[in-house]
Amino acid sequence: MNVAILISGGGSNMLRLLEDMARPHPGHARLVLSNRPEAGGLVRAQAMGVATEVLDHRTFGEDRASFETELHKILMAYEIDVICLAGFMRILGAEFVSAWRGRMLNIHPSLLPKYQGLHTHQRALAAGDALAGCSVHEVVPQLDAGPVLGQSEVPILPGDTAQDLADRVLEQEHLLYPKVLRTFLTHFEPPS
Ligand code: GRF
Repeated sequence: MNVAILISGGGSNMLRLLEDMARPHPGHARLVLSNRPEAGGLVRAQAMGVATEVLDHRTFGEDRASFETELHKILMAYEIDVICLAGFMRILGAEFVSAWRGRMLNIHPSLLPKYQGLHTHQRALAAGDALAGCSVHEVVPQLDAGPVLGQSEVPILPGDTAQDLADRVLEQEHLLYPKVLRTFLTHFEPPS
């Protein structure tokens, strides 16, 4: 099964997925694509011998549909079966998401359904929660609302800053995403 990983930044989750797919795995890491040319993850992917593409959303201005049409074309050209969003900081439109329904995963730094969207760690701290964590979910048109495939919890400790919590959660993201992708692909049947 050909896997594309979509990133916007450093790609630490991407790296963990690539490392896992370098072992015997139902998925083949076919492509890493970034919407930002400066994303550090691109270099890390290349160092692992994985093909990379840049699709800079800024060159499309406000034209989200054209960006997504082009993205879809690239994914088809690489014969991608499954997409993993890994710190991909673009919201994808309903048409694109529907086309990839059941074939696109995302990792989100909260215990969904709590704290969809941004600033999850600040929000968990402000709410006085005892637990935080991360979720891998299927992507549906509504933001961070798809079926949850796996979660990991971490404690929130007295005196934690949002950065402390982000660091603690990220460690769990690195373990959770490869585990969930592996299981997902083991049961995945491509649409006929
Ligand atoms: C992760 O916390 C992910 O959950 C969030 O963005 C961050 C990406 O980090 N959506 P990285 O690029 O994988 O290092």
